[in-house]
Amino acid sequence: MVIDEKKPEDYQGRPVRFFQLENDEGLKASLMSYGATLVSLYVPDRQGRIGDVVLGFDSLSGYLGPNPYMGATIGRYANRIAGGRFVLDGREYQLAKNDGPNHLHGGIRGFDKVIWQAEPFTQPSGVGVRFSYLSPDGEEGYPGNLSCQVTYLLANNSQLEISYQATVDRPTHLNLTNHSYFNLSAGARNNILDHELQILASAFTPVDKTLIPTGEIKSVAGTPFDFRQPVRIGERINQVDGGYDHNFVLDNKGELALVARVFEPDSGRQLDLLTTEPGLQFYSGNFLDGTIIGKSGKTYGPRSAFSLESQHFPDSPNQPHFPSTVLRPGQVFRSKTIFRFSTR
Ligand code: BGC
Repeated sequence: MVIDEKKPEDYQGRPVRFFQLENDEGLKASLMSYGATLVSLYVPDRQGRIGDVVLGFDSLSGYLGPNPYMGATIGRYANRIAGGRFVLDGREYQLAKNDGPNHLHGGIRGFDKVIWQAEPFTQPSGVGVRFSYLSPDGEEGYPGNLSCQVTYLLANNSQLEISYQATVDRPTHLNLTNHSYFNLSAGARNNILDHELQILASAFTPVDKTLIPTGEIKSVAGTPFDFRQPVRIGERINQVDGGYDHNFVLDNKGELALVARVFEPDSGRQLDLLTTEPGLQFYSGNFLDGTIIGKSGKTYGPRSAFSLESQHFPDSPNQPHFPSTVLRPGQVFRSKTIFRFSTR
């Protein structure tokens, strides 16, 4: 087990820290304190050759340019809030509208664009970094001073665990996730259409044209959203307007459980996702348009990667029948998501 710190880079006069982690099995991850971001993740294929399965950039400057949240921690509210507005305890709050008429991924300067405090650690089960951030009252329009921790653990059982914890001094809404873009071929394939996906979700939340849930909890049966058995991502993607960008209502009942499995047949890499969260956004990289130049000069075109974002449902602050995203003083928000790797 190793944890190494690279030379920090400057961002607006403050240092951004970079960590390289390696577990006992030779899996490697790198993390940075800007956005509490997962920068790279090297896992073996069925021949034992390791390859980087997440998209991103070679240096901090790439992350500061046009960047659709690659590998970042998303908050205070992952995904969309309609009109950027909600009423909480009788008071109305207006957030930034940074996605057409809606608020997306925490606003103009969300948790992906701030520098987190970082504390590397080693423990018998693996190596990791604990990131902390104090989001002040009123930041991006959200009420309450929010103290937030995101802990990455690269464990010695082929798992990257991400644990979230938060407390607040006034009621607020909170929805945290990680926005990694995966391509399990580690760059050998330019799109993810041949990846096989399984999502243990019997329902999903249909959306309007601006990707806000209509409020309906719809059964996946007989729709292109039925991933209860493994299906090639490309199989039915053209039956979905614009491609997949939907929240799945997980069958996990709020317990840490396997909720999704992705298999890439050429490399044999398999990713299992476990989470305590009730929802999972499956985003098939529809808006990647080839204008972004990522790692090693590679351009990221449409569907060159997918995201599986464990989360509460989009627009929950305005949809009282969705699981609540309210966090109140005295409560401790806790959530865990695990990416587990294997080959077959
Ligand atoms: C959203 C997409 C969005 C992407 C990058 C995903 O979580 O669902 O609609 O384009 O993030 O911003």
